[in-house]
Amino acid sequence: MGVFASTEESDSTGHEQVVFCQDKQSGLKAIIGIYSTALGPALGGTRFYPYASEAEALHDVLELSRGMAYKNALAGLDLGGGKAVIWGDPEKDKSESLLRAYGRFVQSLGGRYYTACDVGTYVADMDVVARETNFVTGRSVEHGGAGDSSVLTAWGVFQGMRAAAEHIWGSPTLAGRRVGVAGLGKVGKHLTAHLIEDGASVVATDVSERAVQWVRANYPQVDLVDDAAAMVAADIDVYAPCALGGALDDDTVPVLRAKIVTGAANNQLAHPGIEKQLADRGILYTPDYVVNAGGVIQVADEIEGFNFERAKLRATRIYDTTREILQLAEAEGVPPAVAADRLAERRMAEIGRLRTIHLR
Ligand SMILES: NC(=O)c1ccc[n+]([C@@H]2O[C@H](COP(=O)([O-])OP(=O)(O)OC[C@H]3O[C@@H](n4cnc5c(N)ncnc54)[C@H](O)[C@@H]3O)[C@@H](O)[C@H]2O)c1
Repeated sequence: MGVFASTEESDSTGHEQVVFCQDKQSGLKAIIGIYSTALGPALGGTRFYPYASEAEALHDVLELSRGMAYKNALAGLDLGGGKAVIWGDPEKDKSESLLRAYGRFVQSLGGRYYTACDVGTYVADMDVVARETNFVTGRSVEHGGAGDSSVLTAWGVFQGMRAAAEHIWGSPTLAGRRVGVAGLGKVGKHLTAHLIEDGASVVATDVSERAVQWVRANYPQVDLVDDAAAMVAADIDVYAPCALGGALDDDTVPVLRAKIVTGAANNQLAHPGIEKQLADRGILYTPDYVVNAGGVIQVADEIEGFNFERAKLRATRIYDTTREILQLAEAEGVPPAVAADRLAERRMAEIGRLRTIHLR
């Protein structure tokens, strides 16, 4: 499949616009996917990844940009959903000229798409992209950026977990509960701090010895287990996947002892149907894209001129959104993942429709 020959897939997925960007001299090959601008300009990060083929890159950008539309809608942002992929190896192919060429393509869209960091791109890269475009977030604090987005990601996950705790146990606190945190990276560390402050006991795991050392040094009361498999089988009340995607699969769900799953990792459900398996076992799953929206809330705030307190207030509302989703799921007899999609679609339709009221 080649450039433009491959746009049939985007027709069938309902995207507004898919832009192929190429600059031969710098080696840039990028695809920008705009799923929806019903709520405002599309916001989503740039993934720099060595895809096996153009078809794979296109598939990824279409999936990711659609996901951002739903995430931004439920985060209460006046932003639509988009995402970009740069096809290449970030270790070998990233250069100033490639990033700036990419920035010029983003600028050419006139503000229909705002970019940010994702896998393979970092705050320093966004500072370079910003030399060519005004439509970039996730820059460094020195450049007016929001800094490390994991701070509010963890805060939002904690809010989602409080809402789930209230739904199951009647009170919005994790005090006295045992929470398993799988992945003690940027988000997992902040989350552990919130949980301990709330009075939870934490059991954690990480493949990195450095992360394990960090928790031993900073939170000696945290129990450590060997791996995620041991954690899933452990006597925990809440499971918080904060490492990689696919944490909930056909092996983990049947043995999981937790009553609630709320974590930061993207794409926690390994395949469609897992949400039903969780529901059948009476395990409450708060959709990942709802509870991990604190990061996008943090970077989106840059568009208004970054203000941490305002962004934190917005991320705190993840508690209310999660509550609403859990109530809707119960009322409509569907898993929370389905209720979340319905709520996002409703907001895109209801607020997007207002554009039909003519203003001069
Ligand atoms: N940082 C954000 O703002 C943000 C926002 C939304 C979603 N997320 C998602 O949350 C997750 C965590 O993000 P992060 O920024 O903390 O990433 P990170 O890379 O800082 O941390 C991930 C941690 O998981 C550990 N890990 C990897 N494989 C593991 C395994 N099999 N078992 C246990 N630990 C394992 C790593 O050693 C690392 O310490 C990712 O899936 C990310 O996509 C992050």
